[in-house]
Amino acid sequence: MPTSHRDDAAARHLLARLDRFSHLPEARALRDRARESLRLRPGDPVVDVGCGGGRATAELAAAGVRAVGVDLDPAMLDAARAAHPGADFRHGDAYRLPLPDGSVRGYRAEKVYHSLDDPARALAEAHRVLAPGGRLALLGQDWDAYMVDSDDPDATRRIIAAYADTMPDPRAPRRQRALLAAAGFTDIGVEGRVVVFTDAEVVDMLVGFAETAARSGAIDGERARSWTREQRSRAESGRLFVAVPFLLVGAERP
Ligand SMILES: C[S@@+](CC[C@H](N)C(=O)[O-])C[C@H]1O[C@@H](n2cnc3c(N)ncnc32)[C@H](O)[C@@H]1O
Repeated sequence: MPTSHRDDAAARHLLARLDRFSHLPEARALRDRARESLRLRPGDPVVDVGCGGGRATAELAAAGVRAVGVDLDPAMLDAARAAHPGADFRHGDAYRLPLPDGSVRGYRAEKVYHSLDDPARALAEAHRVLAPGGRLALLGQDWDAYMVDSDDPDATRRIIAAYADTMPDPRAPRRQRALLAAAGFTDIGVEGRVVVFTDAEVVDMLVGFAETAARSGAIDGERARSWTREQRSRAESGRLFVAVPFLLVGAERP
């Protein structure tokens, strides 16, 4: 399926951000922990749903399991195939995976469920493709719980909430324990890790949050600009502080 230049540019931008994040030691630790939590044996089939650029799928394959990366976006799949030529990537939807019933021992999805408007349906699909005794690992940040140091904490609250509200399910990780239980999963465990950013690279992300909040009317334009000026000045003087809570939610398909 061909993609437009605009889609390609958006995909490249997202891939660059994901790639920077994936190299952080905390991000590696989260992926390693998610892999461990799946308790896979050599040769086990596992699916990485919303695989993006395919790094985690390729790492799973390198660890000796039969990994399949699935993504809805053809531009992501092109990038994944180019970066990891030996790995198995397939076009598919979290709501309708291209896999038979009970065909995988592991299911992982990282930074995907915040973009799903019907997580219960996606979990029912995870339940369908997992074999009895198979395990699931969901990884993601809570977009409504970003901690950003600022002299204007009220503006911070408005900006973070307004940006989070642009997503279908910004608080996905805090809802998953209950959703997994309702979907029939057992042995549900939740663990967390906070990723701290203090370098100027995250300022662009904060500017995007503030512009979105101003456009939505959650904060007036001048106050949003003043907030971003303060964040730039913090970055220049080594006082920037952003902390993002990531949760790993694991469970077993009985
Ligand atoms: C933020 S990226 C994360 C990519 C990768 N998991 C990572 O951690 O780097 C989210 C990915 O989920 C994919 N995605 C979103 N909705 C999806 C759906 N319904 N089914 C399959 N993939 C989906 C997007 O195309 C995108 O590649």
